Amino acid sequence: MDDSFFNLYYRPEVDSTNEWAKELARSGAPEGTLVVADTQRAGRGRRGRTWSSPRGGLYFSLILRPSIPPELAPQLVLLTATCLHRVLRRRHLPVSLKWPNDVVARGDKLAGILVEAGSASRGLSFAVVGVGVNVNGPPPLEGATSIETITASPQRKDQILQDILGEIKAGYLAYLKEGIEPILADYRQGCTTLGREVVIFGSHGKAKAKAIDVGNSGELLVEYPDGCRGWIHADEVSLRIR
Ligand code: BTN
Repeated sequence: MDDSFFNLYYRPEVDSTNEWAKELARSGAPEGTLVVADTQRAGRGRRGRTWSSPRGGLYFSLILRPSIPPELAPQLVLLTATCLHRVLRRRHLPVSLKWPNDVVARGDKLAGILVEAGSASRGLSFAVVGVGVNVNGPPPLEGATSIETITASPQRKDQILQDILGEIKAGYLAYLKEGIEPILADYRQGCTTLGREVVIFGSHGKAKAKAIDVGNSGELLVEYPDGCRGWIHADEVSLRIR
């Protein structure tokens, strides 16, 4: 890849590209360091879940070092989700976003994002933005899909990666200049969760609510059946659309 922003490392197989990228970040790797693998032995998802990573999928993690407070790191999820949505839409795939970090097609999961932040006393020291996209092969799990399944033809992973990276780079540079608002406007438009009845699973059990809006650090505004409203945070809950 001929791009001075990215510094690419590739391995055919790793435990998790996020773990690899975090090691590199802790040893001082600069912003733009990108690690890519063909398969992961221990791919990780949000909230301690595993991410099934057969060959055929796209698995990468990118180190970013924005000057933002750690509590704004979820903005990088909004940014990455919006970029994935734009790229996959341009390929005419019927995708939408499910809050906070899923790209879904016809209700099935096509891609996921795991942002992990390292903080220092002065703020965020790095963020690792991990992306998994089910590209080729059958859906890796029930409830998932792949681009090949949707289009009925195998895809060039290198081209998809290049498109996604181009979009992330442009989106990130715009974010550094203009903040999250323009991204958030696109995220809201692409987000199928908004306006829907949902079930929230948290540490105190489950609750029904309606999803109203996404706030500018990635939190979701919901309205409970008694009319009360509250913000929920992605690291505390899972969500099912009813
Ligand atoms: C989720 O939907 O829960 C997030 C899934 C994120 C998966 C990607 S694959 C590349 C990177 N490395 C990991 O171990 N996880 C992320």
